[in-house]
Amino acid sequence: MPVSIVVGLQWGDEGKGKMVDHLAAKAVAVARFSGGANAGHSVEAEGKRFALHLLPCGLVRRDVIGMIGSACVMDPVTILEEIKSLERNGISVEGRLKISSKINLTHPGYRWIEKQSEADLANGKIGTTGRGIGPTYERKFRRNAIRLEDVFNMDTFKTLVDFHTDEAVNSLNLDSAEVEMLHSDVEKFIEATREVAHYSDDVSLSIARFLAEDGLVIAEGAQGSLLDPDHGSYPYVTCGQCISGAACTSLGFGPASVTDVIGILKAYTTRVGAGPFPTELDNEIGEKIRQAGHEFGTTTGRPRRCGWFDGVLAGYTARINGCSSVTLTLLDVLSGFDELKICTGYQGGKFTTGRSMDELVPVYETLSGWTEDIRGETEWENLPEAAREYVLAVEKMVGVPVTSVSTGPGRDDVIWR
Ligand code: GDP
Ligand code: IMO
Ligand code: MG
Repeated sequence: MPVSIVVGLQWGDEGKGKMVDHLAAKAVAVARFSGGANAGHSVEAEGKRFALHLLPCGLVRRDVIGMIGSACVMDPVTILEEIKSLERNGISVEGRLKISSKINLTHPGYRWIEKQSEADLANGKIGTTGRGIGPTYERKFRRNAIRLEDVFNMDTFKTLVDFHTDEAVNSLNLDSAEVEMLHSDVEKFIEATREVAHYSDDVSLSIARFLAEDGLVIAEGAQGSLLDPDHGSYPYVTCGQCISGAACTSLGFGPASVTDVIGILKAYTTRVGAGPFPTELDNEIGEKIRQAGHEFGTTTGRPRRCGWFDGVLAGYTARINGCSSVTLTLLDVLSGFDELKICTGYQGGKFTTGRSMDELVPVYETLSGWTEDIRGETEWENLPEAAREYVLAVEKMVGVPVTSVSTGPGRDDVIWR
């Protein structure tokens, strides 16, 4: 009964999409378990580049079933756009997309509410993706959110939709043109929900059937563990739980089904949005990494903040996820640096992911760089010695075997050790 969970161990964008697509070659199903269209997962395959937001990356492989768990949140309009975008690239999801009937929906008013709340926070803003993620989770836990299954009872559905439309209109200072725009978006939301209801499924039951037949199910995480609302850099976090434990809750299987927890770590660190980042390089080295790694957000296009690899944080997130192995991605981006640094501790032995995280001062170990271009390399022995030393230094800090290294965005650009 194998379930492999794939999770990000930093602040997101570690290359989860690329690795899920790589691993999906052996899977019957890939199931997204956290977040919504705040995520951006890139896959390069068949000479094309796909950007997935809520659809599981496994769908890029035509024989894989894609599922979306109940702890994800969904904007029905944007998921239909995503499905159409895949179709335009010759990939149909018909008959192989299953969305939990219990998933909570993002009403169009939530984006306006989020925009207002980010503006109200003034200097303390989170820098969200603006996709209505926070308000959707807030309403889920307030216990009056709209679930996909509500659309099967039109009276209930319309009452809920009207409630949330009224709440947006009453709590925001909208002018008449904006109210009209919101009403028009609500009509589109209703239509889209009806259309997407066709994919509604009991995801837990479907997974149980795959597992009974011994098929590999990959649980695809989104965001990164440092954005988790419990264990991340609170309050600069997202609202959906995104560590490995959340896969069981969202998809409805028990922990005993899990055979692997694969942590994805970038060879350096990036972060989008506000919040502490102890190893940030707000200088020409950070800019060099950003350009070499094309570090601009897949969802919002924002430049990602870049910094050195943080071994303390990576060790911490590997622990809270219970990682059995780690994949180190984007190693090729570090070619051409004279020297590289890894954070091995913080001054005074301090550690926190809470409100005083921005007081942490990193202590670094310096390693030799390498000049060779290693992009697309698939053999461990062919890596320059300094690159191998770098991987081993990461492994030592993380305390979990680095069993694979990604050397390019392409599906097959992976070294297995
Ligand atoms: P995700 O959110 O974790 O799925 O990561 P993103 O897709 O948002 O960002 C990772 C970026 O790095 C994407 O542009 C990928 O195509 C790219 N990528 C993934 N792995 C590698 C790698 O090993 N080397 C290089 N150069 N690019 C990679
Ligand atoms: P993937 O799956 C990077 C960040 C946002 C913001 C914070 C809260 O591609 O790794 P939200 O809109 O979720 O309320 O924003 O979380 N964030 C991500 N950063 N990668 C992601 O996903 C992210 N999803 C959310 O930038 O700082
Ligand atoms: Mg991403």
